Amino acid sequence: MAETEVLIIGCGIAGATAALQLARNPGRQITVITRAADPHESNTQYAQGGIIGRGLNDDPEILLADILAAGAGVSSPYAARILAEEGPPILHEVLEKSAGVKFDSDSSGQPLWGKEAAHSRRRVLHVGDGTGAAIMNGLITALRSCPNITIESNVTAVDLITFPHHSRDPLDNYQPIACHGAYMFNRPEHTVHRYLAAVTVLATGGLGRIYRNTTNPPGSRGDGLAMALRAGARIVNAEYVQFHPTALAAPGAEGLLISEAVRGEGGILLTPDGRQFMAGYSPEWKDLAPRDVVARAIHHEMETHDYSYVLLDIASRMPADAIRSRFPNIYAQCLKAGIDITRELIPVVPAAHYFCGGVLVDEWGRSSIDNLYAVGEISCTGVHGANRLASTSLLEGLVWGNRAARHVEKTLNQAAARKPGFTDVPPWDESGLFAEPDPALIQGDMQTIQNIMWHYVGLVRNEERLSRAIRELRHLWNEIETFYRTTKLADGLIGLRNAIEVALLIAQAAQHNRQSRGCHYRHDSVSVEGDRLI
Ligand code: SIN
Repeated sequence: MAETEVLIIGCGIAGATAALQLARNPGRQITVITRAADPHESNTQYAQGGIIGRGLNDDPEILLADILAAGAGVSSPYAARILAEEGPPILHEVLEKSAGVKFDSDSSGQPLWGKEAAHSRRRVLHVGDGTGAAIMNGLITALRSCPNITIESNVTAVDLITFPHHSRDPLDNYQPIACHGAYMFNRPEHTVHRYLAAVTVLATGGLGRIYRNTTNPPGSRGDGLAMALRAGARIVNAEYVQFHPTALAAPGAEGLLISEAVRGEGGILLTPDGRQFMAGYSPEWKDLAPRDVVARAIHHEMETHDYSYVLLDIASRMPADAIRSRFPNIYAQCLKAGIDITRELIPVVPAAHYFCGGVLVDEWGRSSIDNLYAVGEISCTGVHGANRLASTSLLEGLVWGNRAARHVEKTLNQAAARKPGFTDVPPWDESGLFAEPDPALIQGDMQTIQNIMWHYVGLVRNEERLSRAIRELRHLWNEIETFYRTTKLADGLIGLRNAIEVALLIAQAAQHNRQSRGCHYRHDSVSVEGDRLI
Protein backbone atom coordinates (compact mmCIF):
# COMPACT_ATOMS: atom_id res chain seq x y z
CA MET A 1 0.00 0.00 0.00
CA ALA A 2 1.25 3.45 -0.82
CA GLU A 3 -0.20 6.91 -0.91
CA THR A 4 1.02 9.86 -2.90
CA GLU A 5 -0.35 13.10 -4.26
CA VAL A 6 0.70 12.53 -7.86
CA LEU A 7 1.45 9.10 -9.28
CA ILE A 8 3.40 9.15 -12.54
CA ILE A 9 3.59 5.81 -14.34
CA GLY A 10 6.58 5.86 -16.66
CA CYS A 11 9.85 7.72 -16.54
CA GLY A 12 10.73 8.75 -20.11
CA ILE A 13 10.92 12.38 -21.16
CA ALA A 14 7.18 13.04 -20.64
CA GLY A 15 6.85 11.48 -17.17
CA ALA A 16 10.16 12.90 -15.97
CA THR A 17 9.30 16.40 -17.19
CA ALA A 18 5.94 16.29 -15.44
CA ALA A 19 7.63 15.18 -12.21
CA LEU A 20 10.28 17.90 -12.39
CA GLN A 21 7.74 20.64 -12.99
CA LEU A 22 5.54 19.45 -10.10
CA ALA A 23 8.53 19.19 -7.78
CA ARG A 24 9.07 22.94 -8.05
CA ASN A 25 6.45 23.18 -5.32
CA PRO A 26 8.34 21.77 -2.32
CA GLY A 27 5.03 20.83 -0.67
CA ARG A 28 4.14 18.37 -3.42
CA GLN A 29 4.76 14.68 -3.09
CA ILE A 30 5.36 12.84 -6.37
CA THR A 31 5.93 9.14 -6.98
CA VAL A 32 7.39 8.02 -10.30
CA ILE A 33 7.02 4.35 -11.13
CA THR A 34 9.05 2.51 -13.72
CA ARG A 35 8.80 -1.10 -14.81
CA ALA A 36 12.49 -1.28 -15.63
CA ALA A 37 15.20 -1.91 -13.03
CA ASP A 38 17.04 1.18 -14.26
CA PRO A 39 14.89 4.32 -14.60
CA HIS A 40 16.91 5.44 -17.63
CA GLU A 41 15.38 2.55 -19.57
CA SER A 42 12.54 3.96 -21.65
CA ASN A 43 11.71 4.70 -25.28
CA THR A 44 13.34 8.11 -24.82
CA GLN A 45 16.64 6.44 -24.00
CA TYR A 46 16.82 5.01 -27.54
CA ALA A 47 15.95 8.18 -29.45
CA GLN A 48 18.76 8.90 -31.86
CA GLY A 49 17.89 11.73 -34.22
CA GLY A 50 17.11 14.52 -31.82
CA ILE A 51 14.58 17.10 -30.77
CA ILE A 52 13.26 20.14 -32.56
CA GLY A 53 14.56 23.55 -31.55
CA ARG A 54 14.09 26.93 -33.23
CA GLY A 55 16.33 26.35 -36.24
CA LEU A 56 17.98 28.58 -38.79
CA ASN A 57 15.59 30.96 -40.59
CA ASP A 58 12.82 29.21 -38.74
CA ASP A 59 9.70 30.33 -36.93
CA PRO A 60 6.64 28.67 -35.36
CA GLU A 61 4.54 29.15 -38.51
CA ILE A 62 7.04 27.27 -40.66
CA LEU A 63 7.31 24.43 -38.15
CA LEU A 64 3.52 24.30 -37.85
CA ALA A 65 3.18 23.99 -41.63
CA ASP A 66 5.69 21.10 -41.68
CA ILE A 67 3.88 19.25 -38.86
CA LEU A 68 0.51 19.63 -40.56
CA ALA A 69 1.85 18.55 -43.95
CA ALA A 70 3.46 15.41 -42.47
CA GLY A 71 0.28 14.65 -40.49
CA ALA A 72 -1.65 14.18 -43.77
CA GLY A 73 -4.69 16.22 -42.79
CA VAL A 74 -5.30 14.49 -39.46
CA SER A 75 -3.18 16.67 -37.13
CA SER A 76 -5.01 19.08 -34.86
CA PRO A 77 -3.88 22.58 -35.90
CA TYR A 78 -4.56 23.77 -32.36
CA ALA A 79 -2.32 21.16 -30.71
CA ALA A 80 0.36 21.47 -33.39
CA ARG A 81 0.48 25.24 -32.84
CA ILE A 82 1.00 24.72 -29.10
CA LEU A 83 3.95 22.46 -29.90
CA ALA A 84 5.42 24.81 -32.49
CA GLU A 85 5.18 27.86 -30.25
CA GLU A 86 5.96 26.46 -26.80
CA GLY A 87 8.32 23.61 -27.68
CA PRO A 88 11.65 25.36 -28.30
CA PRO A 89 11.44 27.69 -25.23
CA ILE A 90 10.45 24.79 -22.93
CA LEU A 91 13.28 22.72 -24.37
CA HIS A 92 15.69 25.45 -23.33
CA GLU A 93 14.18 25.79 -19.83
CA VAL A 94 13.86 22.11 -18.98
CA LEU A 95 16.54 20.27 -20.93
CA GLU A 96 19.31 22.83 -21.22
CA LYS A 97 18.83 24.72 -17.96
CA SER A 98 17.33 22.21 -15.47
CA ALA A 99 18.71 18.95 -16.85
CA GLY A 100 21.98 20.37 -18.17
CA VAL A 101 21.80 18.65 -21.56
CA LYS A 102 24.51 19.94 -23.90
CA PHE A 103 23.45 19.67 -27.50
CA ASP A 104 26.13 19.53 -30.18
CA SER A 105 27.45 22.96 -31.11
CA ASP A 106 30.28 24.48 -33.13
CA SER A 107 33.37 26.15 -31.73
CA SER A 108 31.50 29.44 -31.27
CA GLY A 109 28.75 27.72 -29.28
CA GLN A 110 26.17 27.83 -32.09
CA PRO A 111 23.98 24.71 -32.30
CA LEU A 112 24.82 22.24 -35.04
CA TRP A 113 21.33 21.92 -36.47
CA GLY A 114 20.44 18.55 -37.95
CA LYS A 115 17.98 17.80 -40.74
CA GLU A 116 15.42 15.04 -40.94
CA ALA A 117 12.68 13.97 -43.31
CA ALA A 118 9.91 16.40 -44.29
CA HIS A 119 11.48 19.31 -42.40
CA SER A 120 11.80 22.42 -44.53
CA ARG A 121 14.53 23.77 -42.22
CA ARG A 122 17.56 22.50 -40.36
CA ARG A 123 16.18 22.56 -36.83
CA VAL A 124 17.01 19.30 -35.04
CA LEU A 125 19.17 19.54 -31.92
CA HIS A 126 21.14 16.42 -31.17
CA VAL A 127 23.87 14.88 -29.07
CA GLY A 128 25.65 12.81 -31.71
CA ASP A 129 23.21 10.00 -32.42
CA GLY A 130 22.55 9.37 -28.72
CA THR A 131 20.24 12.30 -28.02
CA GLY A 132 17.74 10.28 -26.00
CA ALA A 133 20.41 8.79 -23.74
CA ALA A 134 21.88 12.26 -23.06
CA ILE A 135 18.41 13.59 -22.25
CA MET A 136 17.65 10.70 -19.89
CA ASN A 137 20.98 11.15 -18.09
CA GLY A 138 20.18 14.81 -17.48
CA LEU A 139 16.57 14.21 -16.46
CA ILE A 140 17.25 11.32 -14.07
CA THR A 141 20.02 13.30 -12.37
CA ALA A 142 17.62 16.22 -11.98
CA LEU A 143 14.84 13.95 -10.64
CA ARG A 144 17.19 12.40 -8.10
CA SER A 145 18.11 15.82 -6.78
CA CYS A 146 14.47 16.58 -5.86
CA PRO A 147 13.67 15.46 -2.29
CA ASN A 148 9.91 15.40 -3.01
CA ILE A 149 10.21 12.90 -5.87
CA THR A 150 10.36 9.18 -5.14
CA ILE A 151 11.40 6.92 -8.02
CA GLU A 152 10.35 3.28 -7.68
CA SER A 153 11.89 0.85 -10.16
CA ASN A 154 11.00 -2.76 -10.97
CA VAL A 155 7.30 -2.06 -10.54
CA THR A 156 4.77 -2.93 -13.27
CA ALA A 157 1.40 -1.20 -13.32
CA VAL A 158 -1.40 -3.78 -13.58
CA ASP A 159 -4.61 -1.77 -13.66
CA LEU A 160 -5.81 1.72 -12.91
CA ILE A 161 -7.95 2.09 -9.82
CA THR A 162 -11.09 3.72 -11.11
CA PHE A 163 -14.42 4.48 -9.52
CA PRO A 164 -17.13 3.27 -9.87
CA HIS A 165 -15.30 0.14 -11.12
CA HIS A 166 -13.29 -0.49 -7.94
CA SER A 167 -15.55 1.35 -5.52
CA ARG A 168 -17.31 -0.35 -2.64
CA ASP A 169 -19.99 2.35 -2.65
CA PRO A 170 -22.84 1.63 -5.12
CA LEU A 171 -23.73 5.32 -5.21
CA ASP A 172 -20.47 5.95 -7.09
CA ASN A 173 -22.24 4.52 -10.15
CA TYR A 174 -23.88 7.92 -10.52
CA GLN A 175 -20.56 9.78 -10.62
CA PRO A 176 -18.28 10.34 -13.63
CA ILE A 177 -15.44 7.80 -13.96
CA ALA A 178 -12.49 8.94 -11.86
CA CYS A 179 -9.00 7.53 -11.39
CA HIS A 180 -7.54 7.17 -7.91
CA GLY A 181 -4.21 5.47 -8.58
CA ALA A 182 -3.23 2.00 -9.73
CA TYR A 183 -2.60 -1.59 -8.69
CA MET A 184 1.13 -2.20 -8.95
CA PHE A 185 3.07 -5.44 -9.27
CA ASN A 186 6.35 -5.52 -7.39
CA ARG A 187 8.50 -7.63 -9.70
CA PRO A 188 11.11 -8.96 -7.26
CA GLU A 189 8.53 -9.72 -4.53
CA HIS A 190 5.71 -10.94 -6.83
CA THR A 191 3.17 -8.95 -4.86
CA VAL A 192 0.46 -6.50 -5.92
CA HIS A 193 -0.11 -3.25 -4.02
CA ARG A 194 -2.61 -0.42 -4.09
CA TYR A 195 -1.06 2.96 -4.88
CA LEU A 196 -3.60 5.64 -4.10
CA ALA A 197 -3.15 9.07 -5.65
CA ALA A 198 -5.13 12.27 -6.07
CA VAL A 199 -3.91 12.44 -9.66
CA THR A 200 -2.43 9.79 -11.94
CA VAL A 201 -0.30 10.54 -14.99
CA LEU A 202 0.16 7.81 -17.58
CA ALA A 203 3.53 8.14 -19.32
CA THR A 204 4.13 4.54 -20.31
CA GLY A 205 5.31 5.05 -23.90
CA GLY A 206 4.49 3.04 -26.99
CA LEU A 207 3.67 -0.40 -28.29
CA GLY A 208 6.12 -1.29 -31.08
CA ARG A 209 6.83 -4.65 -29.45
CA ILE A 210 3.47 -6.00 -30.55
CA TYR A 211 5.04 -6.15 -34.04
CA ARG A 212 7.59 -8.71 -35.16
CA ASN A 213 10.01 -6.05 -36.43
CA THR A 214 10.37 -2.93 -34.35
CA THR A 215 12.87 -0.32 -33.26
CA ASN A 216 11.31 -0.23 -29.76
CA PRO A 217 12.75 -1.66 -26.52
CA PRO A 218 11.07 -4.60 -24.70
CA GLY A 219 8.87 -2.45 -22.44
CA SER A 220 6.91 -1.06 -25.42
CA ARG A 221 3.99 -3.44 -25.29
CA GLY A 222 1.11 -1.01 -24.84
CA ASP A 223 0.77 -1.38 -21.05
CA GLY A 224 -0.61 2.09 -20.35
CA LEU A 225 -2.88 2.08 -23.37
CA ALA A 226 -4.44 -1.24 -22.38
CA MET A 227 -4.98 -0.04 -18.80
CA ALA A 228 -6.67 3.12 -20.07
CA LEU A 229 -8.79 1.06 -22.46
CA ARG A 230 -9.97 -1.26 -19.69
CA ALA A 231 -10.77 1.75 -17.53
CA GLY A 232 -12.96 3.21 -20.28
CA ALA A 233 -10.79 6.14 -21.45
CA ARG A 234 -11.42 7.51 -24.91
CA ILE A 235 -8.78 6.29 -27.35
CA VAL A 236 -8.39 7.66 -30.88
CA ASN A 237 -6.38 7.22 -34.10
CA ALA A 238 -5.29 3.69 -33.16
CA GLU A 239 -4.84 2.72 -36.83
CA TYR A 240 -1.90 5.14 -37.20
CA VAL A 241 1.16 3.05 -36.35
CA GLN A 242 4.25 4.64 -37.81
CA PHE A 243 6.89 2.44 -39.44
CA HIS A 244 10.42 3.77 -39.52
CA PRO A 245 11.89 3.23 -42.98
CA THR A 246 15.37 2.21 -41.87
CA ALA A 247 15.98 -0.45 -39.24
CA LEU A 248 19.12 -2.51 -39.63
CA ALA A 249 18.60 -5.82 -41.42
CA ALA A 250 21.57 -7.81 -40.14
CA PRO A 251 21.35 -11.15 -38.34
CA GLY A 252 21.39 -10.67 -34.57
CA ALA A 253 20.98 -6.86 -34.78
CA GLU A 254 17.47 -6.62 -36.25
CA GLY A 255 15.53 -3.56 -35.19
CA LEU A 256 18.53 -1.34 -34.58
CA LEU A 257 17.41 2.11 -35.68
CA ILE A 258 19.44 3.75 -38.41
CA SER A 259 18.44 7.33 -37.75
CA GLU A 260 16.72 9.44 -40.37
CA ALA A 261 19.48 11.92 -39.61
CA VAL A 262 21.72 9.67 -41.73
CA ARG A 263 19.60 10.61 -44.74
CA GLY A 264 19.47 14.15 -43.37
CA GLU A 265 23.26 14.27 -43.78
CA GLY A 266 23.04 13.10 -47.38
CA GLY A 267 22.52 9.31 -47.10
CA ILE A 268 20.58 7.79 -49.99
CA LEU A 269 18.58 4.63 -50.44
CA LEU A 270 19.50 2.12 -53.13
CA THR A 271 18.12 -1.18 -54.28
CA PRO A 272 20.47 -4.16 -53.87
CA ASP A 273 21.40 -3.72 -57.57
CA GLY A 274 22.44 -0.11 -56.95
CA ARG A 275 19.41 1.81 -58.24
CA GLN A 276 18.26 5.01 -56.48
CA PHE A 277 14.50 4.89 -56.22
CA MET A 278 13.10 7.60 -53.95
CA ALA A 279 12.84 10.28 -56.68
CA GLY A 280 10.29 8.05 -58.38
CA TYR A 281 8.08 8.09 -55.29
CA SER A 282 8.61 11.67 -54.12
CA PRO A 283 10.17 13.95 -56.74
CA GLU A 284 10.03 16.86 -54.28
CA TRP A 285 11.58 15.31 -51.17
CA LYS A 286 13.29 12.22 -52.57
CA ASP A 287 15.08 10.35 -49.72
CA LEU A 288 13.79 12.88 -47.20
CA ALA A 289 10.12 12.37 -48.01
CA PRO A 290 7.71 11.94 -45.06
CA ARG A 291 8.33 8.73 -43.18
CA ASP A 292 5.18 6.96 -44.35
CA VAL A 293 6.11 7.59 -48.00
CA VAL A 294 9.68 6.31 -47.63
CA ALA A 295 8.62 3.24 -45.63
CA ARG A 296 5.99 2.34 -48.23
CA ALA A 297 8.39 2.96 -51.11
CA ILE A 298 10.89 0.54 -49.56
CA HIS A 299 8.14 -2.00 -48.94
CA HIS A 300 6.98 -1.63 -52.54
CA GLU A 301 10.48 -2.12 -53.93
CA MET A 302 11.03 -5.15 -51.71
CA GLU A 303 7.72 -6.73 -52.66
CA THR A 304 7.89 -5.99 -56.38
CA HIS A 305 11.47 -7.16 -56.86
CA ASP A 306 11.57 -9.77 -54.13
CA TYR A 307 14.41 -8.04 -52.24
CA SER A 308 14.79 -8.90 -48.59
CA TYR A 309 16.19 -5.42 -47.81
CA VAL A 310 17.31 -2.20 -49.47
CA LEU A 311 20.59 -0.40 -48.88
CA LEU A 312 21.47 2.91 -47.30
CA ASP A 313 24.61 4.62 -48.52
CA ILE A 314 26.32 7.13 -46.27
CA ALA A 315 29.88 5.91 -46.94
CA SER A 316 30.13 7.67 -50.30
CA ARG A 317 28.37 10.81 -49.06
CA MET A 318 30.32 11.78 -45.95
CA PRO A 319 34.00 11.47 -44.96
CA ALA A 320 34.71 8.53 -42.65
CA ASP A 321 35.78 10.75 -39.74
CA ALA A 322 32.62 12.82 -40.01
CA ILE A 323 30.48 9.65 -39.99
CA ARG A 324 32.22 8.36 -36.87
CA SER A 325 31.81 11.63 -35.02
CA ARG A 326 28.21 12.39 -36.08
CA PHE A 327 26.94 8.79 -35.70
CA PRO A 328 29.18 7.11 -33.11
CA ASN A 329 26.56 4.67 -31.80
CA ILE A 330 25.23 3.61 -35.19
CA TYR A 331 28.83 3.19 -36.36
CA ALA A 332 29.74 1.03 -33.33
CA GLN A 333 26.56 -1.07 -33.38
CA CYS A 334 26.82 -1.74 -37.11
CA LEU A 335 30.47 -2.64 -36.74
CA LYS A 336 29.47 -5.18 -34.10
CA ALA A 337 27.04 -6.63 -36.65
CA GLY A 338 29.89 -6.86 -39.19
CA ILE A 339 29.15 -3.69 -41.22
CA ASP A 340 31.59 -0.79 -41.42
CA ILE A 341 29.31 2.08 -42.42
CA THR A 342 32.27 4.28 -43.36
CA ARG A 343 33.02 1.85 -46.18
CA GLU A 344 29.97 -0.33 -46.72
CA LEU A 345 26.31 0.02 -47.58
CA ILE A 346 23.83 -0.59 -44.75
CA PRO A 347 21.05 -3.16 -45.32
CA VAL A 348 17.77 -1.74 -43.99
CA VAL A 349 14.06 -2.60 -43.77
CA PRO A 350 11.07 -0.76 -42.29
CA ALA A 351 10.05 -1.56 -38.70
CA ALA A 352 7.24 -0.49 -36.34
CA HIS A 353 8.44 2.66 -34.60
CA TYR A 354 5.84 4.98 -33.11
CA PHE A 355 2.16 4.96 -32.15
CA CYS A 356 0.56 8.17 -33.45
CA GLY A 357 -2.80 7.41 -31.80
CA GLY A 358 -3.44 7.01 -28.10
CA VAL A 359 -5.42 8.14 -25.09
CA LEU A 360 -7.22 11.27 -26.23
CA VAL A 361 -6.09 14.26 -24.18
CA ASP A 362 -6.73 17.97 -24.27
CA GLU A 363 -4.22 20.80 -24.30
CA TRP A 364 -3.42 20.09 -20.63
CA GLY A 365 -2.97 16.34 -21.03
CA ARG A 366 -6.33 15.53 -19.42
CA SER A 367 -7.95 12.27 -20.53
CA SER A 368 -11.68 11.58 -20.58
CA ILE A 369 -11.38 10.09 -17.06
CA ASP A 370 -11.32 12.48 -14.10
CA ASN A 371 -7.91 12.85 -12.42
CA LEU A 372 -6.21 10.83 -15.17
CA TYR A 373 -3.67 12.53 -17.43
CA ALA A 374 -1.69 10.97 -20.27
CA VAL A 375 1.54 12.36 -21.72
CA GLY A 376 4.07 11.26 -24.32
CA GLU A 377 3.60 8.42 -26.79
CA ILE A 378 0.67 6.83 -24.98
CA SER A 379 -1.36 10.00 -25.45
CA CYS A 380 -2.96 11.46 -28.52
CA THR A 381 -2.78 15.25 -28.36
CA GLY A 382 -3.58 15.50 -32.05
CA VAL A 383 -0.11 16.79 -32.99
CA HIS A 384 0.96 13.78 -35.03
CA GLY A 385 -2.20 13.16 -37.00
CA ALA A 386 -1.78 10.27 -39.43
CA ASN A 387 2.00 10.48 -39.61
CA ARG A 388 4.42 12.01 -37.13
CA LEU A 389 7.02 14.49 -38.30
CA ALA A 390 10.52 13.36 -37.28
CA SER A 391 11.86 14.56 -33.93
CA THR A 392 8.51 15.86 -32.69
CA SER A 393 7.98 13.04 -30.20
CA LEU A 394 10.51 14.12 -27.57
CA LEU A 395 9.28 17.69 -27.91
CA GLU A 396 5.67 16.66 -27.47
CA GLY A 397 6.57 14.68 -24.34
CA LEU A 398 8.35 17.72 -22.98
CA VAL A 399 5.57 20.21 -23.76
CA TRP A 400 2.68 18.07 -22.56
CA GLY A 401 4.61 16.73 -19.55
CA ASN A 402 5.14 20.33 -18.53
CA ARG A 403 1.57 21.43 -19.33
CA ALA A 404 -0.01 18.48 -17.50
CA ALA A 405 2.06 19.29 -14.42
CA ARG A 406 1.04 22.93 -14.51
CA HIS A 407 -2.61 21.95 -14.73
CA VAL A 408 -2.27 19.39 -11.92
CA GLU A 409 -0.67 22.03 -9.73
CA LYS A 410 -3.71 24.28 -10.18
CA THR A 411 -6.33 21.61 -9.57
CA LEU A 412 -4.69 19.23 -7.12
CA ASN A 413 -6.59 20.42 -4.07
CA GLN A 414 -9.94 19.61 -5.67
CA ALA A 415 -8.69 16.17 -6.76
CA ALA A 416 -7.21 15.48 -3.31
CA ALA A 417 -10.56 16.19 -1.67
CA ARG A 418 -12.08 13.27 -3.62
CA LYS A 419 -9.23 10.82 -3.00
CA PRO A 420 -10.51 7.62 -1.36
CA GLY A 421 -8.83 5.85 1.58
CA PHE A 422 -7.57 2.26 1.67
CA THR A 423 -10.81 1.02 3.18
CA ASP A 424 -12.70 2.29 0.12
CA VAL A 425 -10.62 0.32 -2.41
CA PRO A 426 -10.46 -3.48 -2.37
CA PRO A 427 -7.01 -5.05 -2.14
CA TRP A 428 -5.78 -7.14 -5.08
CA ASP A 429 -7.31 -10.59 -4.85
CA GLU A 430 -5.13 -13.48 -5.97
CA SER A 431 -6.99 -16.16 -4.03
CA GLY A 432 -7.64 -19.25 -6.08
CA LEU A 433 -4.74 -18.61 -8.48
CA PHE A 434 -2.29 -21.47 -8.22
CA ALA A 435 -0.88 -21.98 -11.73
CA GLU A 436 2.67 -20.71 -12.26
CA PRO A 437 3.06 -18.52 -15.38
CA ASP A 438 4.54 -20.73 -18.09
CA PRO A 439 7.20 -18.71 -20.00
CA ALA A 440 6.79 -20.92 -23.08
CA LEU A 441 3.11 -20.01 -23.32
CA ILE A 442 3.81 -16.32 -22.74
CA GLN A 443 6.56 -16.20 -25.35
CA GLY A 444 4.64 -18.32 -27.85
CA ASP A 445 1.50 -16.20 -27.60
CA MET A 446 3.51 -12.99 -27.84
CA GLN A 447 5.20 -14.21 -31.01
CA THR A 448 1.83 -15.12 -32.49
CA ILE A 449 0.56 -11.57 -31.83
CA GLN A 450 3.72 -10.10 -33.35
CA ASN A 451 3.40 -12.21 -36.50
CA ILE A 452 -0.28 -11.45 -36.97
CA MET A 453 0.33 -7.72 -36.55
CA TRP A 454 3.33 -7.72 -38.86
CA HIS A 455 1.70 -9.62 -41.72
CA TYR A 456 -1.93 -8.48 -41.53
CA VAL A 457 -1.91 -5.12 -39.72
CA GLY A 458 1.41 -3.84 -41.03
CA LEU A 459 2.54 -1.27 -43.55
CA VAL A 460 0.07 -2.36 -46.23
CA ARG A 461 -3.41 -3.45 -45.15
CA ASN A 462 -6.60 -4.67 -46.77
CA GLU A 463 -9.96 -6.02 -45.69
CA GLU A 464 -9.02 -9.65 -46.01
CA ARG A 465 -5.84 -9.29 -43.95
CA LEU A 466 -7.55 -7.19 -41.30
CA SER A 467 -10.53 -9.46 -40.86
CA ARG A 468 -8.22 -12.49 -40.64
CA ALA A 469 -6.15 -10.63 -38.03
CA ILE A 470 -9.22 -9.78 -35.98
CA ARG A 471 -10.52 -13.37 -36.05
CA GLU A 472 -7.17 -14.76 -34.95
CA LEU A 473 -6.58 -12.08 -32.32
CA ARG A 474 -10.06 -12.63 -30.86
CA HIS A 475 -9.40 -16.33 -30.54
CA LEU A 476 -6.07 -15.63 -28.88
CA TRP A 477 -7.66 -13.02 -26.62
CA ASN A 478 -9.97 -15.74 -25.24
CA GLU A 479 -7.03 -18.03 -24.57
CA ILE A 480 -4.96 -15.30 -22.94
CA GLU A 481 -7.84 -14.07 -20.80
CA THR A 482 -8.37 -17.61 -19.46
CA PHE A 483 -4.64 -17.93 -18.88
CA TYR A 484 -4.60 -14.58 -17.03
CA ARG A 485 -7.63 -15.43 -14.90
CA THR A 486 -6.14 -18.71 -13.70
CA THR A 487 -2.44 -17.90 -13.32
CA LYS A 488 -0.34 -16.12 -10.72
CA LEU A 489 0.69 -12.68 -11.86
CA ALA A 490 4.04 -12.08 -13.60
CA ASP A 491 5.40 -9.17 -15.58
CA GLY A 492 5.35 -11.17 -18.83
CA LEU A 493 1.74 -12.19 -18.28
CA ILE A 494 0.70 -8.58 -17.61
CA GLY A 495 2.44 -7.54 -20.83
CA LEU A 496 0.88 -10.35 -22.85
CA ARG A 497 -2.62 -9.45 -21.74
CA ASN A 498 -1.97 -5.80 -22.60
CA ALA A 499 -0.42 -6.67 -25.95
CA ILE A 500 -3.42 -8.71 -27.14
CA GLU A 501 -5.82 -5.94 -26.12
CA VAL A 502 -3.96 -3.18 -27.95
CA ALA A 503 -3.34 -5.42 -30.97
CA LEU A 504 -7.09 -5.97 -31.30
CA LEU A 505 -7.75 -2.27 -30.82
CA ILE A 506 -5.38 -1.37 -33.65
CA ALA A 507 -6.67 -4.07 -36.00
CA GLN A 508 -10.28 -3.00 -35.41
CA ALA A 509 -9.48 0.69 -35.93
CA ALA A 510 -7.63 -0.19 -39.13
CA GLN A 511 -10.58 -2.23 -40.38
CA HIS A 512 -13.04 0.50 -39.52
CA ASN A 513 -11.11 3.24 -41.34
CA ARG A 514 -11.26 2.53 -45.08
CA GLN A 515 -9.44 5.73 -46.03
CA SER A 516 -5.71 5.54 -46.60
CA ARG A 517 -3.93 8.42 -44.92
CA GLY A 518 -0.42 8.82 -43.65
CA CYS A 519 0.82 5.63 -42.06
CA HIS A 520 -2.56 3.85 -42.35
CA TYR A 521 -2.41 2.49 -45.89
CA ARG A 522 -5.03 0.14 -47.31
CA HIS A 523 -4.46 -0.91 -50.87
CA ASP A 524 -8.16 -1.75 -51.16
CA SER A 525 -9.26 1.82 -50.41
CA VAL A 526 -9.68 5.04 -52.29
CA SER A 527 -6.84 7.45 -51.72
CA VAL A 528 -7.61 10.82 -50.18
CA GLU A 529 -4.25 12.26 -51.09
CA GLY A 530 -3.21 10.42 -54.19
CA ASP A 531 0.24 11.95 -54.47
CA ARG A 532 1.38 10.35 -51.21
CA LEU A 533 0.23 6.85 -51.98
CA ILE A 534 1.91 4.19 -53.97
C1 SIN B 1 15.32 8.84 -36.03
O1 SIN B 1 16.38 9.19 -35.50
O2 SIN B 1 15.26 8.53 -37.22
C2 SIN B 1 14.07 8.77 -35.21
C3 SIN B 1 13.63 10.11 -34.85
C4 SIN B 1 12.17 10.10 -34.54
O3 SIN B 1 11.57 9.04 -34.39
O4 SIN B 1 11.60 11.18 -34.50
